[in-house]
Amino acid sequence: MKVFITRKIPNRGLELLTQNKIDFEMSELDRPLTPDELKAKVAGVDGILSQLVDKITAEVMDAAGKQLKVVANYAVGFDNVSVKDATNRHILVTNTPDVLTDSVADHAFALMMAAARRVVESDRFSRAGKYQGWQPFLLLGQEVYGKTLGIIGSGRIGSALAMRAAKGFNMKVLYHDQKPNENLENEIGAKFVTKEELLKNSDFVSLHVPLLPETKHLISTHEFEMMKKTAVLVNTARGPVVDEQALLKALRNGDIFAAGIDVWENEPKLTPGLEDLENIVITPHTASATVETRENMSLVAAQNIIAALKGETPPNLVKIQ
Ligand code: DGY
Repeated sequence: MKVFITRKIPNRGLELLTQNKIDFEMSELDRPLTPDELKAKVAGVDGILSQLVDKITAEVMDAAGKQLKVVANYAVGFDNVSVKDATNRHILVTNTPDVLTDSVADHAFALMMAAARRVVESDRFSRAGKYQGWQPFLLLGQEVYGKTLGIIGSGRIGSALAMRAAKGFNMKVLYHDQKPNENLENEIGAKFVTKEELLKNSDFVSLHVPLLPETKHLISTHEFEMMKKTAVLVNTARGPVVDEQALLKALRNGDIFAAGIDVWENEPKLTPGLEDLENIVITPHTASATVETRENMSLVAAQNIIAALKGETPPNLVKIQ
């Protein structure tokens, strides 16, 4: 059984593959592979361990060959894998949920705090030697404690953020999803509302939906118009969920107070103009980037591959959405 790993990942999963006598090749290039390089590398393999930047299309699966049994994505999101094409070819697709829930929720909270309290802007201001002494109106931000957080998507990460906000910061939580989340309602009294109610009444709006045709540009001009002028938008989900041109306009016009984004609409390219704004905190898709989480993601991806190659149902099988 042969597995191709599209980019270097932490050792934990590699050790497990070795213990299970699974032969693997890991790309030695310190960059994503081009589609042609990917197709050449996967030829003849039984499993692909892919990154979220690899587009695993029908073409790539066909280039691998009929023996391909599993695509194990090294991410919780799997919009880069054509699950429909995989299913049609009886190829299993897996992801790495749970192990990154806390690191991503922590990061969303960090973005919320940094944007509300102008932490990065204040750092730039200080380093530039602009501080001339204490002032009553210097770099005023928005209070976080006791405010209202609206989460769109109440799955694992959205719920983990909501718990932090309610339990640690005494925040009221509104949420919008396809169906009510009883656990969130019972644990912290979160309130299920429409998207419109959430946008109008939240001080912080955090996005936790997968990227699907129906979630592309879920937040655009119309939505920014509904939000409070003091609101902060946080996106740790997928970049295209937010219309970045509309975000640029909203931030420039002061339609919202600030934003914190870990994911960008056209990664790795940032919409020109965003880099000039002080009221946005931008991180380069690093929400799950902790030593512990990345090791655990490596382990989970390996566990998924091993189960699939043994003919078992992998622990994190994904289905067509
Ligand atoms: C994932 O794994 O899909 C996320 O983008 C991590 O931040």
